[in-house]
Amino acid sequence: MSAPFRDMRLPGAFCVTMLEPDDFEFWRDQARAMVQCDVPPDRVAWSDPSGAGDLFAGGRRRLPAIPPGARPVRASRAFVQLAKSAICHSDAARFSLLYRLLWRLQANPRLLEDGADADVRRLEDLAKAVRRDIHKMRAFVRFRLVEEGDEEHYVAWFEPEHHILRANAGFFVRRFANMRWSILTPKGSLHWDGDRLEEGPPAQRSDAPAGDPTEDLWRKYYASIFNPARLKIGAMLKEMPRKYWKNMPEAALIPELVAGAQARESQMVAAGTLDMGERPSSLEAIDKAIHACRMCPIGLLDNHAVMGEGPQDYAKGFSGLMIVGEQPGDQEDLAGRPFVGPAGQLLDRHLERVGIDRRSAYVTNAVKHFKFVQRGKRRLHQSPTSKEIDICRFWVEGERALVQPKLVLAMGASAARGMLGKTVSISRARGVPHALEDGSELWVTAHPSYLLRLDGPARDEQSRLFDADLLAVKERLAQLVQA
Ligand code: URA
Repeated sequence: MSAPFRDMRLPGAFCVTMLEPDDFEFWRDQARAMVQCDVPPDRVAWSDPSGAGDLFAGGRRRLPAIPPGARPVRASRAFVQLAKSAICHSDAARFSLLYRLLWRLQANPRLLEDGADADVRRLEDLAKAVRRDIHKMRAFVRFRLVEEGDEEHYVAWFEPEHHILRANAGFFVRRFANMRWSILTPKGSLHWDGDRLEEGPPAQRSDAPAGDPTEDLWRKYYASIFNPARLKIGAMLKEMPRKYWKNMPEAALIPELVAGAQARESQMVAAGTLDMGERPSSLEAIDKAIHACRMCPIGLLDNHAVMGEGPQDYAKGFSGLMIVGEQPGDQEDLAGRPFVGPAGQLLDRHLERVGIDRRSAYVTNAVKHFKFVQRGKRRLHQSPTSKEIDICRFWVEGERALVQPKLVLAMGASAARGMLGKTVSISRARGVPHALEDGSELWVTAHPSYLLRLDGPARDEQSRLFDADLLAVKERLAQLVQA
């Protein structure tokens, strides 16, 4: 590790050259040592590995040893958190800003509470810009398929504003764990072979492929979910700035879609529906596509898509029943399977009680990703919005078209909306069939998590109603299969 040096061109000043532009631990070790040696901020020059940084950087004298009995360095958790983000910013002055703040925190541990302080404000701005860049990278990285012999390799080109590649690596590894991929950027590259992550040197745009056949599918899908009735150009540009467009296949459609928005809006109003475009032709294709789907914000969270599961072939035990829930929960997200957590276990008990074999049903969800807010180590469930459910209808309707159940049981309001495209009240919709356009029937009941939230007589009453709905479904399914 290179220690700070005394700078010869500014007598009394020390120079620290960062080994990596985003290495918080290295910066912290250097900064702590200098605080303990009582080196004031205007006596330290910082530079990043490219040499950018404070003007008088470049000296060669070592920092004196930390004096015995030097006071420990204090830094609030809030500072450390903000500093970890801010250090990834591309502003060459970030290291000295952080050091100045650390120095000042020794005298004023509550400095960060002063929102009017220029250094504090700058720290917050840097951290915010980095968080935004991280989010944009998650949203706008587009992999292109490169066939290498029998192997598939996905390659993406992205131009981050800040040094966020390493900070985002974990997200992409978790998210695309089963794919072999590379993300190339002008600031460095990441390569994942399904097992190991490696960092590589900066790349050029020409190193990444320009397009692949799956992009046509993306474009069709994007065109189908682009809702002209909600078009707000200013907001769209804020969320998806033009500089990202060149790497996104669907962005090529934006000018055309915006231009045609008015006409499409009238068409949609007249038809009362969205044209959802062409459906993927197999469950495997849907499974693959939902893992890459980021058409709504839920797909940007640190989660995995969960595909439906169960038989689809009557000869292989399919009963003709499709059960639809709302969205995977925490445990489903981790297991990659629907209804394996507490709600799933309760569902299993009720199905068993009325004599429905879960293994004979195709079980899935209206929304394919787990929507949550992080609270400490816990991920708390959040309900999907109507818009998010409507976007995900493309996938669950795709499953239904392929599985071709005779009867669909939607559990809860989100599942019912996913099947009907409109909101219904469970108490009014339950207990009767709703015709679906392909001749199959939809039945609606409560969601098992609703039962889990009740206790005492209310729970008993709702459990009884739930069993009654399941029994009605069982009997009706038998009639439909016979017919
Ligand atoms: N709740 C759901 O709606 N689906 C699951 O898969 C799990 C819990």
